[in-house]
Amino acid sequence: MVRNLTQLELLLELEPVAESNVHRHLSMAKTWHPHDYVPWDAGRNFAALGGTDWDPAQSRLSEVARAAMVTNLLTEDNLPSYHREIAENFSSDGAWGTWVGRWTAEENRHGIAIRDYLVVTRAVDPVALERARMVHMTNGYDAMKLVRESDKASVVDLADSGFLHSVAYVTFQELATRVSHRNTGKVCEDPVADRMLARISADENLHMIFYRNMCAAALDLAPDQALEAITDIVCNFQMPGAGMPDWRRNGVLMAKHGIYDLRQHLDDVVMPVLRKWNVFDRNDFTARGDRVRNTLGEFLEKLRNDCARFEEQRDRALAREARKRDLVGSRP
Ligand SMILES: [Fe+2]
Ligand SMILES: [Fe+2]
Repeated sequence: MVRNLTQLELLLELEPVAESNVHRHLSMAKTWHPHDYVPWDAGRNFAALGGTDWDPAQSRLSEVARAAMVTNLLTEDNLPSYHREIAENFSSDGAWGTWVGRWTAEENRHGIAIRDYLVVTRAVDPVALERARMVHMTNGYDAMKLVRESDKASVVDLADSGFLHSVAYVTFQELATRVSHRNTGKVCEDPVADRMLARISADENLHMIFYRNMCAAALDLAPDQALEAITDIVCNFQMPGAGMPDWRRNGVLMAKHGIYDLRQHLDDVVMPVLRKWNVFDRNDFTARGDRVRNTLGEFLEKLRNDCARFEEQRDRALAREARKRDLVGSRP
């Protein structure tokens, strides 16, 4: 049986790949400034400074757009949790350390821009937003919780799989947030918000490429071991906002209105990445990797069936809502 590489061995072996990908990222990343994406002339003081406090009638965003904006922002706000995940599993030396610092600084920009936009335009209740941020950040987010608690986890020794789990998780998570920000921009029906979220999505895409490339290199270096971590993550994936205030309600709204749903998760996030890694066509797995690949294949089959069920339920719910609206509209 092939010996598992330790976390330290993985980090040492992959350091040159990290270095070239940091350079690639820095050459592609665009510098932008949050203040350029916020319509400051729409702002005015709140009561504490002699103005008026927030009122729901001031928001120009739909209920769906508000739910999506708040969910996306609270996820960005929880950056310390994600920083911890990466910082604990990557080295702080060399290219690894450079990446962790740079990535954290870029992510922080996202939260700054979205919050400024929401508060200046009075799109959401700033008091409720601050309360939700306090709750969500105090609780933190543990991306590996489900993997640890899963009785089906492929990786037996979790101590040396932190890097692989992390890098697999953030690959899918960055792509998922890219999709979510992009679709949120569309439902806002405000060109200013759309431009800001398109800018943020472009960042998320570059982040995803860094992690996807690292994971690809890990697959080449330790195929069975990397595939086990990837399978654990795909089979236990949860959006990074899970557990935040109103998560269920907002998640349902977002899924129902095409901001992030199961079909998008499978077709636009999971499958493109697995295809890029050539997971189902590579021939460098041993019997151990082949077994895990079968588990992954079965899970994806189940996900496909769940998607079909989700779409039927969603279409029925939307039709019901449309009928209700028509009924109200036709009342004298
Ligand atoms: Fe972000
Ligand atoms: Fe990101």
